[in-house]
Amino acid sequence: MSSSDIYRELILDYYRNPRNFGKLDPHDIESRDSNPLCGDEVEIQVKVSPDNKIEDIRFHGKGCAISQASASMLTELAKGKPLEWVKELSKEDILKMLGTSDLGPARIKCALLSMKVLKTGVYGYLGASLEDSDR
Ligand code: FES
Repeated sequence: MSSSDIYRELILDYYRNPRNFGKLDPHDIESRDSNPLCGDEVEIQVKVSPDNKIEDIRFHGKGCAISQASASMLTELAKGKPLEWVKELSKEDILKMLGTSDLGPARIKCALLSMKVLKTGVYGYLGASLEDSDR
């Protein structure tokens, strides 16, 4: 089995048996978005610890194997990390996480959807809590 086959298997395994799939109640962050090319969706919910870390995280959605596997892998990677870590996440980190660099432009959008959702949620939360501390 070549290494790209192993990664393809891994992506399919996360797609079929998604880790951290579901909803989190209560949660502090909720964010969702869809891929405009196909309409596939990812929603992420996060519980934030008092020291601004990702205490718990879940996702749900519908879509292709790459978008859903990428969301599931990202939740595993993100759990326990500071919110600031999310701000530093890059496309390269996601491709590394997926174990592949040979995705075409359409598939890149699939792979990056969950990162976009998580960043949007975290930025919104940090913006909101900055406003809170101003009061
Ligand atoms: Fe829709 Fe991949 S084909 S996100």
